[in-house]
Amino acid sequence: MDVKWNELGFGYVKTDKRYVSLYKGGKWDEGILTSDETVTLNECACVFQYAQTCFEGLKAYRTADGKIVCFRPDLNAERMERSCERMKMPVFPKERFIEAVKATVKANERWVPPYGTGATLYIRPYMFGSDAVIGVKPANEFQFRILVTPVGPYFKGGVKPLSLRVSDLDRAAPRGTGDIKAGLNYAMSLYNIVDAHEQGFDENVYLDAATRTYIEETGGANIIFITKDGTVVTPKSDSILPSITRRSLLYVAREYLGLKTEERRVTLDDVSGFAECGLCGTAAVISPVGRINDHGKDILFPSGMKDMGPVTKKLYDTLRGIQMGEIKAPEGWIYGID
Ligand code: PLP
Ligand code: COI
Repeated sequence: MDVKWNELGFGYVKTDKRYVSLYKGGKWDEGILTSDETVTLNECACVFQYAQTCFEGLKAYRTADGKIVCFRPDLNAERMERSCERMKMPVFPKERFIEAVKATVKANERWVPPYGTGATLYIRPYMFGSDAVIGVKPANEFQFRILVTPVGPYFKGGVKPLSLRVSDLDRAAPRGTGDIKAGLNYAMSLYNIVDAHEQGFDENVYLDAATRTYIEETGGANIIFITKDGTVVTPKSDSILPSITRRSLLYVAREYLGLKTEERRVTLDDVSGFAECGLCGTAAVISPVGRINDHGKDILFPSGMKDMGPVTKKLYDTLRGIQMGEIKAPEGWIYGID
């Protein structure tokens, strides 16, 4: 094993063990850790035919004293519960979810990047319908799995400010389904992310599908803005993913940094009035945004294309500090892997 931790991008690396639990006859089995990274399924498995699948994403971090921790896995378990209910899949119980995350990280301890390298261990719990289904209906059998892979920055170029564009397409997250992380939503966004990259943009900013007036989120992260007087603003919508990072950041902004926060509808017209902008998520952490292109017209944030804006930087440093064990975390946010 010879990993250049500092040079890792956001990709898949085969690690030692993954967790697998099977659902059959109305119940989950006890689950195992296996070295086999392959999955063999019937050609007619519900996941292939009707995309009955959902996933979660969280990270494990190596702290300065060499311990391994993960960040708010209870909230991922709860969000996955909602995804499963919406996708007609059986819920994998929260306590078992947390235990399985810990066991999988523990079994891959040597893959948790060292403190100070900037890399982390990305944890991907996911579930899919595994038995053969040809009529449109849910599967009867399911697999809940967790894979882990060491990752570096999600966006190429590390923390260089991003260039986004306002999308003409929808992210296929109709009202009321924004709170699920389901395969189909992401499959429907692949065309658009490839197109954005080809046009020289890092990501798409989606507007609300009904009126094309309000800012929603990007393909893989929520969005935050900072006003000229230092208030943290995030779009309020029931068709965006309730990002655990965003919810944590709003708390950090208020309780650690004494900033005002607002969750409200943000129109595309409002955007040019903000001082800073950033994307937030498990993979994105907080990535600064320097410009948003609206059909050929650039909206440039005063923080520029070189550095993170000052308030975004404070939020970033405080959240990272909490996750890396340098700053005391709020009660219940950090789970030790032991
Ligand atoms: N929005 C979308 C569409 C995502 O895929 C993600 C990543 O999971 C997020 C937002 C950020 O959510 P979280 O902070 O819970 O990782
Ligand atoms: C995450 O941040 O965990 C995500 O799921 C975003 C992306 C990799 C889909």
